[in-house]
Amino acid sequence: MEKRRFGCTGNEVSVVGFGGAPIGILETQQQQVARILNLLLDEGVNVIDTAAAYQGSEQAIGQAVAHRRDQYVLVSKCGEPGNPDSDEWKPEALKATVDRALTRLRTDHLDVMLLHTCGLELLRRGEVLETLVRARQAGKVRHVGYSGDNEEAAYAAALPDVAVVETSLNICDQANIDRVLPEARARNVAIIAKRPIANAAWKDLSEQPGFYQDYAENYTRRLARMDISPADLGFEGDESDAWAELALRFTLSLPGVHTAIIGTTNPDHARANLAAAAHGPLGQAAIQRIRDAFRHAESDSGKKWEGLT
Ligand SMILES: NC(=O)c1ccc[n+]([C@@H]2O[C@H](COP(=O)([O-])OP(=O)(O)OC[C@H]3O[C@@H](n4cnc5c(N)ncnc54)[C@H](OP(=O)(O)O)[C@@H]3O)[C@@H](O)[C@H]2O)c1
Repeated sequence: MEKRRFGCTGNEVSVVGFGGAPIGILETQQQQVARILNLLLDEGVNVIDTAAAYQGSEQAIGQAVAHRRDQYVLVSKCGEPGNPDSDEWKPEALKATVDRALTRLRTDHLDVMLLHTCGLELLRRGEVLETLVRARQAGKVRHVGYSGDNEEAAYAAALPDVAVVETSLNICDQANIDRVLPEARARNVAIIAKRPIANAAWKDLSEQPGFYQDYAENYTRRLARMDISPADLGFEGDESDAWAELALRFTLSLPGVHTAIIGTTNPDHARANLAAAAHGPLGQAAIQRIRDAFRHAESDSGKKWEGLT
């Protein structure tokens, strides 16, 4: 498994990581969670991403792999995403969320704690980040950062205390490539690509499970407008497998991306994603084709295609 230096953190991370949203939100059975996480760790994956907001995700991860804690970089998030007025952003609540994450994840430290998509105003006020810095000073968290998109993520990437930014980067979500990655690279900020295979946007929406039906809808519409196919990009064989591979390899080809955290509830998909990543970056012609398709489709739509949180 290819590893990359994780920005300024001193860690090395596998290019494929595990995204813990679906196992929590879709309430995947514990046995299945343990199977997926252990197979990924066995294959050299060493990044696990979760959040307080992903329902039972932190507990499930703790239960499944806390006995292998020295084998992974553990990332969690705090606060209530999308609701800047929530009490979850108050310093006492953030402090309690860090402590609760340690209990749920059965560990004495998190490698990374991220602010979970708070708005720009909260970020600018500084108090939320200062609270995480205090958790770092107390040894509960090794590095702090921000998870989100667009102007907020670009702003966060420039802050001296921010060591890690998690942001949407995929074939259907390219705004952060130009908005966030240049600043992050200049400051050696670690970058986690979230939604790295665009929520499997090539699937018919009716085949998306549970909450993904609404969540993936925007990407599904964008991909249809982009009017590209795996065959156009030189991929043969099963179309769904080809989409998954080209989507992941596109994200991993972006300069400045260190790891791509794929959400999955399916061990076969977990294995296929490892095999896809092993094929390395996409060729330059395919990357250019995907970049051009996004730009043209965005322009034809008459709207700015912002990064989706
Ligand atoms: N604001 C934030 O901080 C934020 C927002 C979004 C996401 N995240 C993080 O980023 C992670 C990844 O994002 P995501 O889970 O939304 O999206 P994603 O990783 O782009 O896509 C996940 C979807 O792709 C499917 N999939 C995975 N591998 C596949 C394969 N080889 N072939 C076909 N389908 C495949 C999964 O279904 P199966 O279960 O069937 O494999 C799931 O429906 C999250 O889990 C979370 O940790 C953070």
